[in-house]
Amino acid sequence: MPETSAIIDIDLLRAEALGALGKLNASDAAAVEHWRVEFLGRKGRLTAALRGLATLPPDQRRDAGAAANALKELLESRLAEKQAQSAASRASAAGGVDVTLPGRRLRQGRYHPSTQIIREICRAFNEMGFQTVEGPEVEWERYNFDLLNIPRDHPARDRWDTVWVDQRRPEGAEVEVGQRMLLRTHTSPMQGRVMEKVQPPVRVVVPGKCYRVEATDATHEWQFHQVEGLAVDEGITFADLKGTLYEFARRIFGAERKVRFRCDYFPFVEPGVEMSIDCFACSGKGCPICKQSGWIEVMGAGMVHPKVLAGVGYDAEKYTGFAFGMGPERIAMLRHGIEDIRHFFANDLRFLSQF
Ligand code: DAH
Repeated sequence: MPETSAIIDIDLLRAEALGALGKLNASDAAAVEHWRVEFLGRKGRLTAALRGLATLPPDQRRDAGAAANALKELLESRLAEKQAQSAASRASAAGGVDVTLPGRRLRQGRYHPSTQIIREICRAFNEMGFQTVEGPEVEWERYNFDLLNIPRDHPARDRWDTVWVDQRRPEGAEVEVGQRMLLRTHTSPMQGRVMEKVQPPVRVVVPGKCYRVEATDATHEWQFHQVEGLAVDEGITFADLKGTLYEFARRIFGAERKVRFRCDYFPFVEPGVEMSIDCFACSGKGCPICKQSGWIEVMGAGMVHPKVLAGVGYDAEKYTGFAFGMGPERIAMLRHGIEDIRHFFANDLRFLSQF
C-alpha cells in the first residue's frame, strides 16, 4: 500500500504525542492537561489532522481516516492511564490509599429512635410557643418530690420506685440539710427548677432521661425518657390544657384523632387527668394495639396544684397553669408497633437501623 502524506503525518504525530506524554510527570496535572489540549483538544493537532483528511483523494481518505481514529483512541487511552497514575501517586503521597479503587459504600448514621420521637414531640410544642429546656438526671429529692407536693412520708412516693444515689452533699452544692440525691424518676422536677428561676408567663417542654427501680419487662425499663410540659400564666384554664394537648395529639397521631380525658391522680396537679387518643390502628373499633378498648393512653396531665405554685413563691391566687408528662418510648412503640421497650436500650443495630 502506497504511503500517503496524511498517513505519514499521523505516524509522526503518534511518535511526537507519545514521546511528549512519556516525559510528563503524572503528578503534574497542569502539564498533563496542557498535553491533552495540544493533541486531543478541539483545536488540537489531531483534530487538525482529521480535518486535513477532507483534502485527500477519496481512495486514500478511508485508510487515512481509520489510522487517524485509531490514533485518537490510542492517545485517549494513554491519557487515561497517565491520569490514573497521577491519582495513584497522589494517593500514596496521602498515605497509601488507592483512590482509583472502587468506593466502599458509607454506612449512614442516624438519630436513635428515642431522639427522633423526642425531637418530634418537642417540635410540636415549640410550634405552639413552648421553649425546650433540660435539667439534671441526678436530682435532689426537693425537686423530684418535695416541691411537687410529695413530702417524705407521702404514700405517693411509692409510685416512683427510686434509685437513691448518695446522702452526702457534693462539694459546693447549695441545698437544705437532710436533702438526699436520687436519679430523677420523672422529668417533673424541672417544674420547680424553672419556676424558681423565672416569673410567669412560663411555657416549657422538658425532654430527658429518667430512672426507676423496675423488674424489667416488655413495658418497663429502669431507664427511659419522658417529655414534661408546663404552662403557667394568669387566666390559664383547663380548656387551655385540653386545646393544647388535643392539638399535640393531632400533630403526632394524625389530624383525624379524637382525644379523651379521664380523672387520674398525681400529687402535683388538681384536677389530674390521663389523656387517651382513639386508636389510630382501628379507629376505635378494637384491636390488639388498643387492647380491644378503642382507646390508647398517651400521657398524664392536670392543672398545676396551688401548693406547687406556692412552693416556688408564685402567687397561687393570681396564677394558674397546666402540666403534662409523657413517655416518648411508649409513643414510638405505639407508632411503629414495637412490642418491647427494652429494644430501645439494647443497642442492637438490627433494631436501631430500622428507624
Ligand atoms: N411525672 C408523672 C410520672 O412520671 C407524669 C405526669 C403526670 C407529669 C401528670 C405531669 C402531670 O406533669 O401533670 O408518672
